[in-house]
Amino acid sequence: MKPPQQKIAHFDDHARFYDIVIKTNPRYLAMLDFHLASLDACDDVLDSGAGTGNLTLPLLQRGKRVCAVDNSDDMITQLREKCKEYSSRFEIRKRDLTQPLDFPDGSFDGTASCYVVPYVNEPVYFSENCSILLLFPNDKLN
Ligand SMILES: C[S@@+](CC[C@H](N)C(=O)[O-])C[C@H]1O[C@@H](n2cnc3c(N)ncnc32)[C@H](O)[C@@H]1O
Repeated sequence: MKPPQQKIAHFDDHARFYDIVIKTNPRYLAMLDFHLASLDACDDVLDSGAGTGNLTLPLLQRGKRVCAVDNSDDMITQLREKCKEYSSRFEIRKRDLTQPLDFPDGSFDGTASCYVVPYVNEPVYFSENCSILLLFPNDKLN
């Protein structure tokens, strides 16, 4: 298993190209739709591992308040630029998802972690910190 700094560096290295590559993947696009549908009734959403904001942005466009958490500076740079027109309902926090998150109970009525679990070094700690994991029926958290 890679140490945390190497994984952060991976996303920093690829942040500028992430959207170009990932948006050609039909399974990824279907996963975004799945998360959006799952969060339809929610107003205050925590997007854990928000990356460049491919889930955060459509959530904001649907009128939701979103707190986006990630630990990659370069992914956060893309995220901030993409979502800047929604700043009144949008917050970014740079945090490590394997550590306890500093939100008061009841801060959110929905959480999502789209395409994040495979990239987290300590998925057990991650799942403890992010109370709802939305996976495809056949996905496994190994
Ligand atoms: C494959 S990207 C998915 C991004 C976005 N959710 C999406 O659907 O495109 C995984 C994201 O998880 C973030 N990540 C991985 N491990 C993390 C950790 N321990 N703490 C915070 N963010 C983490 C990475 O920086 C990256 O932005």
